[in-house]
Amino acid sequence: MSATIIDGKAAAEEVREQVREKVAAFADRHGRSPGLVGVQVGDDPASEIYQKRKAEAAEGVGMISRRVVLPAETTQAELDAVLDDLNADDAVDGVLVQLPVPDQLSESHIAARIHPDKDVDGFGAANLGRLVRGEPAPVPCTPQGVMYMLDRHEIPIEGANAVVVGRSLIVGKPQALLLTARSATVTVAHSRTRDLPALCRTADILVAAVGRPEMIRGDWIKPGAAVIDVGINRTDDGLVGDVADAEAREVAGWLTPVPGGVGPMTIAFLLSNTVEAAERRLGASEQE
Ligand code: GUN
Repeated sequence: MSATIIDGKAAAEEVREQVREKVAAFADRHGRSPGLVGVQVGDDPASEIYQKRKAEAAEGVGMISRRVVLPAETTQAELDAVLDDLNADDAVDGVLVQLPVPDQLSESHIAARIHPDKDVDGFGAANLGRLVRGEPAPVPCTPQGVMYMLDRHEIPIEGANAVVVGRSLIVGKPQALLLTARSATVTVAHSRTRDLPALCRTADILVAAVGRPEMIRGDWIKPGAAVIDVGINRTDDGLVGDVADAEAREVAGWLTPVPGGVGPMTIAFLLSNTVEAAERRLGASEQE
């Protein structure tokens, strides 16, 4: 058996097309396009690439995109002042600070400083709380992209055993919430989990988000399972995921490749969160 390879580029283009239509409708109605600002602190090469891609993608769907690049030694107070200005700027609908940030800055402080209405990463306490409650809110982009891919391939979620490997705030935790909301039976595994291979073998849906190159081997996978590889690891052999791709292809029912799998979905859902944030903000002001 050979796994169906899930095409993240095609799925992302589908999402971007939907966003493009919403952006055009928003611009017709409000006389301006939704605005997205990406803030980067320092010159980490990976962050630089991600931020450029996000900006290009935003422009590609008709949004106004701005990048703010601050020096690596920026203090929390200086970053706060930048975020306060963006919070107050009516032309800005979405603000994100590229992670990781230098050590003198606090990710939780940053998440709290971005106004919840503009928190298009969905990392702030207000939006994560809404996600737990099942209320409308910007949902973290990567796990939202994973759900879209599962649905696009009509992979059954209700009643399925799902194992999420990794408990990060960006992927693992919100992924578990989204799968639970769709009535999967979810187990969150992490570095202290006992007998991880045996646990993974129970998974109908296996989401790998640990950041360890090819950690998940073919014999950890239940035959026919949907295997979603969120890992993006730079190695001497190039970019690899958290799943041993060649082995997984022989066993899995569905598999996302790296690159070209989950990666493109993350940016597509950032755009989707931004146009929705813009609609919510202006919708709310019209009712005042
Ligand atoms: N770093 C890695 N993933 C992400 C993400 O989704 N958003 C932000 N802001 N930074 C990241």
